[in-house]
Amino acid sequence: MTLELVVAGESHGPALVAVVTGLPAGLVLEQDAIDGDLRRRQQGYGRSPRQQIETDEVEVLAGLRHGRTLGTPLALVVRNRDHANWAWSMSPWPPEGEPSGKGTKAMTLPRPGHADLAGALKFGLADLRDALEHASARHTAAAVAAGAVAKALLAEIGIAVAGQVVGDDLEQRIDAARAERDTVGGVVEVRARGVPPGLGSYATREQRLDARLAGAVMGIQAVKGVEIGDGFEIAGLRGSQAHDEIVRDERGLHRETNRAGGIEAGVSNGEEIVVRAAMKPLPTLMRPLRSVDLETGQPAEALVERSDVAAVEALVVVAEAGVAFELARAAREKLGGDSLVDFVNAHRSYLERIDWSPR
Ligand SMILES: Cc1cc2nc3c(=O)[nH]c(=O)nc-3n(C[C@H](O)[C@H](O)[C@H](O)COP(=O)(O)O)c2cc1C
Repeated sequence: MTLELVVAGESHGPALVAVVTGLPAGLVLEQDAIDGDLRRRQQGYGRSPRQQIETDEVEVLAGLRHGRTLGTPLALVVRNRDHANWAWSMSPWPPEGEPSGKGTKAMTLPRPGHADLAGALKFGLADLRDALEHASARHTAAAVAAGAVAKALLAEIGIAVAGQVVGDDLEQRIDAARAERDTVGGVVEVRARGVPPGLGSYATREQRLDARLAGAVMGIQAVKGVEIGDGFEIAGLRGSQAHDEIVRDERGLHRETNRAGGIEAGVSNGEEIVVRAAMKPLPTLMRPLRSVDLETGQPAEALVERSDVAAVEALVVVAEAGVAFELARAAREKLGGDSLVDFVNAHRSYLERIDWSPR
């Protein structure tokens, strides 16, 4: 039994869609909790006015009845309100009538750092919009909705996932960059408490929890570095300083330090899981970098489109969703169960077997 997620959606298309399979039946979902995470994703210092147009809300099309999962595929939808302004340009079917609204002209000026050039070459596109519409991070809204579902499942076995921005100078850096019509990135951290030892495995690369979490977070747009625990810092330490000594007390076997970030040998070790991600400065610049017009082959400036100065606080929520989903997937693999009761009971009997209890 495992959990899977497929996300479909274009930035200015009609809607974003997430389909989650592998949930147990009987999990209670709260619409407010999902919408709460959607709103958190839209907030944050440095975001564009697009966030005022969109007030994301989840709609459920399948897999839920009276607030309880049915154990069947769960289909979540987040509508793009802005689509009304792009109805001609982003019409899924050949549009009727004269071009109107936004996005009617083909885009031919690829932005360094975005999907534009690589996508155009890969897929043979004449209009860069065909690449950037899905490459854009807008569809992370659907992933955040799925992440909120994963958080609800994890909460049933006492796991809580929360993130934050690392460092306290983000607002100043954003103000300074905005004044110069530039962009910034930053570092975020996600922690998961209450994770029992034994999620993931060293058996194969695909099962290693550290690799899976790194993939989940690196899979988010603009993330260029991921570390688990003290990650890069540990490389410069001696072994005697780098590892977390094992002690035993009334909570069973645990550690007093957590440099490993809660994972050893690709398996959770019962300590808090700590994942950090480095986000690059956003590539759409109001003072564009040099590029080439793909239509004429001549040097030109990259395209300018309404864009965020920073999305670091939004990344916190998207990264929480990625970590929560992957942990929920690992928990489904370990504990199984067609109904929520089976899943929770499997967790309880596993904890009875091992010499560990949560903090
Ligand atoms: C939540 C979030 C919001 C983003 N908003 C923007 C944006 O407004 N403008 C932009 O140029 N890039 C934005 N990005 C980053 C681009 O989507 C990303 O850099 C691009 O798709 C290229 O992928 P890569 O950076 O992973 O190589 C955002 C990323 C995230 C996670």
